[in-house]
Amino acid sequence: MSSPVIELDNVTKVYPLPSGDVTALREISLTIDEGEFVAIMGPSGSGKSTLLNQIGCLDRPTSGNLFLAGKNIREMDDRELTSLRLSSLGYIFQKFNLIPLLTAYENVEYPYIMKHRKNDDTGRVRDLLALVGIDESLSAHKPNELSGGQQQRIAIARALVNDPAILLCDEPTGNLDSQTGAQIMEVLSDLHRKGRTIIMVTHESEIAAYAERTIVIRDGRVA
Ligand SMILES: Nc1ncnc2c1ncn2[C@@H]1O[C@H](COP(=O)(O)OP(=O)(O)O)[C@@H](O)[C@H]1O
Ligand SMILES: [Mg+2]
Repeated sequence: MSSPVIELDNVTKVYPLPSGDVTALREISLTIDEGEFVAIMGPSGSGKSTLLNQIGCLDRPTSGNLFLAGKNIREMDDRELTSLRLSSLGYIFQKFNLIPLLTAYENVEYPYIMKHRKNDDTGRVRDLLALVGIDESLSAHKPNELSGGQQQRIAIARALVNDPAILLCDEPTGNLDSQTGAQIMEVLSDLHRKGRTIIMVTHESEIAAYAERTIVIRDGRVA
């Protein structure tokens, strides 16, 4: 039996700008069940990243409600939201967002330290780096000494370090060649088989084909 882990009820997001309001999401209602692998597709500027940011609690809806594991995020304060983000949500950004001054290993360990308030003495960081194909010598490199594919693998390992139930990926293969992209998709498919809920933004239908369901967004609405 599946139960909804994510529910959006009439979610609207407006960015107020000096030149006028931009409505990025218009009354979006949708449900995603535990263990689903969902692709979000749509043209550039249609609101895909904005939608993922709402689900990832990086931002709050202007109106409407968002429920995570049945809990309305409007009823959570910043502290509860931060804790939820660290424990339940893993985020893979389109541009990796690795910290340039930290090594690959330290980048992956960072959210672990934020959550546990101590270094990883369990071997988890090393194991995750191995899982995504980054060996020990590469782990000591800074992001700018690594290829785009290697940086994306590190970003995936970082997103997994606190064992999140929900993985959010914004164009996870957007900056990669097709062979590296296919390898990254194998890692994500494997995580899905292991029970993670995966929500992935993409504008490529070959990438969306890895998901079980596709939600199409156009002009901030579910098409
Ligand atoms: N931080 C922001 N401030 C103002 N407008 C934004 C911001 N982020 C996105 N937008 C606008 O919202 C709309 C949707 O953007 P986005 O969610 O990034 O689309 P997509 O990821 O599908 O390309 C666009 O018109 C974009 O310009
Ligand atoms: Mg985007």
